[in-house]
Amino acid sequence: MLTRRNTLVALGALPLLSAQKVLAATTVNPFTLGVASGNPKPDSVILWTRLAPDPLKGGGMPVGRALVRYKVCLDVEMTKTFREGQFETSDLDAHSVHVLLDGLQPGHEFFYQFMFGDATSAIGRTRTTSPMDASAKLALASCNAYESGYFAAFADMAAWTPDCVIHVGDYIYEGGIGRLGMNTRLVDGKELSFETVRLHNSPETKSLWDYRNRYALYKTDPDLQAAHAAAPWIVAMDDHEIDNNWAGDIPEDPDQQTSLEFKVRKIAALKAYYEHMPIEKPPMIQGLEASLQMFGLYRFGPAQVHLLDTRQFRSDQPCGQGFPGDTACDAMNDPSLTMTGQAQEAWLFDALKRSNAPFNVLASQTWFAPYRYNAPPEAPRVNMDQWDGYGVQRQRIIDALANGIANPVVLSGDWHSASAMRIHERPYDPRSKRIGHNFCGTSISSHCPWAGALDAAKSYNPHVDYVDGSKRGYIRSTIDRNNWTATYRTVDQPSNPKSKSSTAIEMRTRDL
Ligand SMILES: [Fe+2]
Repeated sequence: MLTRRNTLVALGALPLLSAQKVLAATTVNPFTLGVASGNPKPDSVILWTRLAPDPLKGGGMPVGRALVRYKVCLDVEMTKTFREGQFETSDLDAHSVHVLLDGLQPGHEFFYQFMFGDATSAIGRTRTTSPMDASAKLALASCNAYESGYFAAFADMAAWTPDCVIHVGDYIYEGGIGRLGMNTRLVDGKELSFETVRLHNSPETKSLWDYRNRYALYKTDPDLQAAHAAAPWIVAMDDHEIDNNWAGDIPEDPDQQTSLEFKVRKIAALKAYYEHMPIEKPPMIQGLEASLQMFGLYRFGPAQVHLLDTRQFRSDQPCGQGFPGDTACDAMNDPSLTMTGQAQEAWLFDALKRSNAPFNVLASQTWFAPYRYNAPPEAPRVNMDQWDGYGVQRQRIIDALANGIANPVVLSGDWHSASAMRIHERPYDPRSKRIGHNFCGTSISSHCPWAGALDAAKSYNPHVDYVDGSKRGYIRSTIDRNNWTATYRTVDQPSNPKSKSSTAIEMRTRDL
């Protein structure tokens, strides 16, 4: 077992690398994966980078410890120095850097850069949060499948300079190497075509080596790097950071991988996630049990954001895992079914109760409002991986939100399609009281094979104001005390890496 004492002993045994010698052995600037910041609070933020001169082959650093210097300035020209320091990296964390920059003032902008010997990183911009801000600009992103498309949406996001990017998961996809060009896929009995524009770098990811190289592949994308450099991010993983549709300790296909294999795989995936994300703490690993703190509370001016983790503590999907859905069955009525686990649910209710914010946000991986794929009054056919499969817990949350919580908004990803839905006190009954809104971003690049099924079912879902699975993009939210504007940005040409983006639709809570 890797205890703290063992870790210190292991670290002490590693030689301290000379930056000069490392740089002399390569022609590559080691900051190949860009920079990032995250977990913005009123008085702190995390700064991230990683030394990786050979990013797709394990990183390419010699064995040892390395000192990375950082500089934080008040201006983008990097002349007004605010703070300087250094961080010791090592092989144990893939030479990743996680600096906790604390003691800051709320609502301030900072610029930061890393140095290793003479090599310098890109310059990043970050910002502390403040409940006093009169307004907030939040970008919602999810589902950046590398093979399915380019990341032009991230370039558009960077140009907007949000206060924060909320990424609700599917930052990487674990699948193997596809085939370039047009490919067909059988969806609901119909053959549909999808383009693969670039390729993954290994078979399905299972080991720490695989996951590290997969994160590195994604993070070499210049548009993803630009979006990280433009603003702090808050992140929580969905399923593809480990394995499609995993839940707690249960993989998608328990007949294909044993529980032991899945646990080992999860440790590797959580560790690689930490190594590549601007988050503070590494996963807790005890024997074969691993967990990573992902849910958390953030305040952006008028919006209190509860970032949820709906994978690590979830019960297995009831009634099947069909696409786009399965018919409701008795197993859905089990009150112990949970997306979040009891502790996170209690934390959420407590945080909501204490909130004085004009808007109260749940950032959830999957869609919160219902979406049925068949006509009433039949039992609904819904996607069991989303909140529809966990209706008893959803109702508890709706009841809590309905109990005097100001302007609930749920932000969701996962379903590769954009939507704006009203959340009602009885979620399938649009005549019951409206208690909030669910704004769902489409995918940055992932395909949506069920776009046709969504369109065909729209009339069965009268609480839905907008739905479109045909386009790639993200949501810009502009929030002031009285109104939330969700601007759905979509990529004009998904197979063009330099594509422009434009606004598909704008939804305002005051009009809905
Ligand atoms: Fe996805």
